[in-house]
Amino acid sequence: MNYLLHTLPGLGSLAWHEAETRLPIPKSGGGPSIGATLIVPGRNDIVLLRYAGNPRALLNLRVSEDVFALGARAFNVANDERGLRQIYAAVRNTRSANDALNAWRRIHSIQRSSKLVNFRVISREIGAHKFWRRDIGKAVADAIADGWPGRWRRVNDNADLEIWATLLERELLCGVRLSTQEMRQRGKLRHLPASLRPALAAAMVLLTEPEDDDVFLDPMAGAGTLLTERAAAGRFAQILGGDNSAAAVEAMRVNTRRLKGDITCRQWNARSLPQPDASVDKVAVNLPFGKQVSDETNLSDLYCDVLMEIERVLRPGGRLVALAGDIKLLEAARSAVAPKLHVEQYARLEVLGQGASICVCTKL
Ligand SMILES: C[S@@+](CC[C@H](N)C(=O)[O-])C[C@H]1O[C@@H](n2cnc3c(N)ncnc32)[C@H](O)[C@@H]1O
Repeated sequence: MNYLLHTLPGLGSLAWHEAETRLPIPKSGGGPSIGATLIVPGRNDIVLLRYAGNPRALLNLRVSEDVFALGARAFNVANDERGLRQIYAAVRNTRSANDALNAWRRIHSIQRSSKLVNFRVISREIGAHKFWRRDIGKAVADAIADGWPGRWRRVNDNADLEIWATLLERELLCGVRLSTQEMRQRGKLRHLPASLRPALAAAMVLLTEPEDDDVFLDPMAGAGTLLTERAAAGRFAQILGGDNSAAAVEAMRVNTRRLKGDITCRQWNARSLPQPDASVDKVAVNLPFGKQVSDETNLSDLYCDVLMEIERVLRPGGRLVALAGDIKLLEAARSAVAPKLHVEQYARLEVLGQGASICVCTKL
């Protein structure tokens, strides 16, 4: 069975890495294998994945925000009226409709039935086509109503089932949505304006290479998104989070209070951390972007002071994963004051439509 994992722009390869390492391998074999990673510019990355296990396992992935069963795929879609006919034919005649619908029923515990299904089509279009986005939606909806097993009614709201049709230049991907908002939002977490999307926090945690005996630190933890994702990533010895804002520490405590294990949230100044030297295994931090600190704060000085502290508290061999809006500023601070933080990798991504980078370092 083929699935589509949607994740944030720039996180496709990490979403695949998580799927490859975390999805259980079914007794019959058929662990996950990757088909492709596609980039939908400015929207998201899509991982095309083959997997024979229970589709419910896909909903436990944390670097992905949405999961779809692949209902239809088409290549070489023409950019004029013929393209709409090709889309209709590809969706109507697909051999994957039954499998995709079975995955949806399995997840929602719906018995196979002839019950009328209210469905909605969300269409997305990248590239120059001589038809409108709504025409893609209509071609897909007509094809489903005419050719897919069951009884169908197209609605705009309160749909039982969502079909997402993405026309990426000349390739069509049509998925039956298996996930709900819950997967993206991770329950009722309290958010602050600068809070990370949980999928991005999960990707950063993955890059720390979590281990069972980790002492994990986020020195500027805001509402604690990185802390909650670290706790979800598996065993740990201790999780430490702090922030200089009392409101942030309160949100952090609310967001972590139901998590099991040794988790401490404190108000502190990350320029002078309370941890002893070489006492932490992993640090993940979302450094304030320019617009997120007061005018009096000099970002360059802040980055220097915080990196110096991170270098001090990390044990040799420990890892730092830092997200920054201005990677040049981060690199200038690192090379000036924290040269023992050896850069392993930089990754580009988008945060709220703005370019940002993740820097992964090992302490020498
Ligand atoms: C980009 S936000 C972190 C958001 C967090 N990752 C989340 O998901 O909620 C940066 C945080 O750094 C905190 N901060 C700024 N200067 C600080 C300092 N000197 N010491 C500790 N925290 C600081 C801010 O209060 C803010 O919560």
